[in-house]
Amino acid sequence: MESLTLRASPSSTASPPLRLPGRRRAASVRVSASGAGEPDLSVTVNGLKMPNPFVIGSGPPGTNYTVMKRAFDEGWGGVIAKTVSLDAGKVINVTPRYARLRADPNGSTKSPIIGWQNIELISDRPLETMLNEFKQLKKEYPDRILIGSIMEEYNKAAWHELIERVEESGVDALEINFSCPHGMPERKMGAAVGQDCALLEEVSGWINEKATVPVWSKMTPNITDITQPSRIALKSGSEGIAAINTIMSVMGIDLKTLRPEPCVEGYSTPGGYSARAVHPIALAKVMQIARLIKEEFPEGRSLSAIGGVETGNDAAEFILLGADTVQVCTGVMMHGYGLVKKLCTELQDFMRMHDFTSIEDFRGYVPFTVFSLWLNWRWKPSG
Ligand SMILES: Cc1cc2nc3c(=O)[nH]c(=O)nc-3n(C[C@H](O)[C@H](O)[C@H](O)COP(=O)(O)O)c2cc1C
Repeated sequence: MESLTLRASPSSTASPPLRLPGRRRAASVRVSASGAGEPDLSVTVNGLKMPNPFVIGSGPPGTNYTVMKRAFDEGWGGVIAKTVSLDAGKVINVTPRYARLRADPNGSTKSPIIGWQNIELISDRPLETMLNEFKQLKKEYPDRILIGSIMEEYNKAAWHELIERVEESGVDALEINFSCPHGMPERKMGAAVGQDCALLEEVSGWINEKATVPVWSKMTPNITDITQPSRIALKSGSEGIAAINTIMSVMGIDLKTLRPEPCVEGYSTPGGYSARAVHPIALAKVMQIARLIKEEFPEGRSLSAIGGVETGNDAAEFILLGADTVQVCTGVMMHGYGLVKKLCTELQDFMRMHDFTSIEDFRGYVPFTVFSLWLNWRWKPSG
């Protein structure tokens, strides 16, 4: 078994030291009861061991103890809880907050959902309640990976307090929500930070000087070049990038009421788009970040890919681009926690088709080509 220990990057990138040994390359075949080799789905990312790369993405599927326990019982590789902040009293969630796009142009409710819009804010449950539930989960599932997702206002002391309290609950890592498109921008929260590189650099610096567990910075796709904030987050010491959060959207206008959807007492606001429809956009963003990591952080950083995953093949695409883990949020809301079994089976079917025995066998297999360079090389005008 080949193992690779990742350390702090060379001084050329001026990055602070990473907190934990990085991912390990392990080519292994798990032998099934019948004796036949079965593709091994296990991954180790930033020192965190998971039975498979499938992680519950922050959102409704990680709202409370009961649902997160369900996720572990069903076999998810890890769970990222719904984003928490210090004062849940400031978070007022509205109803309705979801709208769905159906494959049928007339919106028949019998046709499959392909796009999902939400205007949901972060957790409105008291932080203390959430932390007690994290503690309970880690007590019951000590060897399973629980990641706290956090977001705070533009205030160093507040970020430090939040990190300290969430870490004390026993979480294995932190995901930083720099990306919610409706994440209270008036308070410099969520995408308001992820879309402003100067702000991001400052806030990332505060976070990484305080955190003692691995940090994944979650990026917004609502920006021209996602590599710019990703580079800053990695240079300021984040162990990994998670992408994408939802895409800014308005689901539609109700042509009877003449109001946008979803509509709360006659008012609406652009929200975040997710589910199958965003998968191609997520693939493009993940490809750009994977390339950034490969070219500028050769010592290795982790990448957690998110966006429209409902099948093992969707996950295989992300891993082929270089993702270490694959998160699922809306897919779980639509199909339930048991989805993980189907995802694992389909991913193993894909691996068998190519004789891949471990995730590392094909992670990052897809080459990156700058299209203009390729064109120059392929097409040389005569004369
Ligand atoms: C209803 C809803 C609530 C969400 N809440 C959060 C959140 O609290 N924090 C966060 O980082 N992302 C949140 N997300 C974004 C998801 O984690 C994910 O990045 C996005 O939906 C794309 O993945 P998907 O297509 O698998 O849902 C939410 C998404 C949905 C649909």
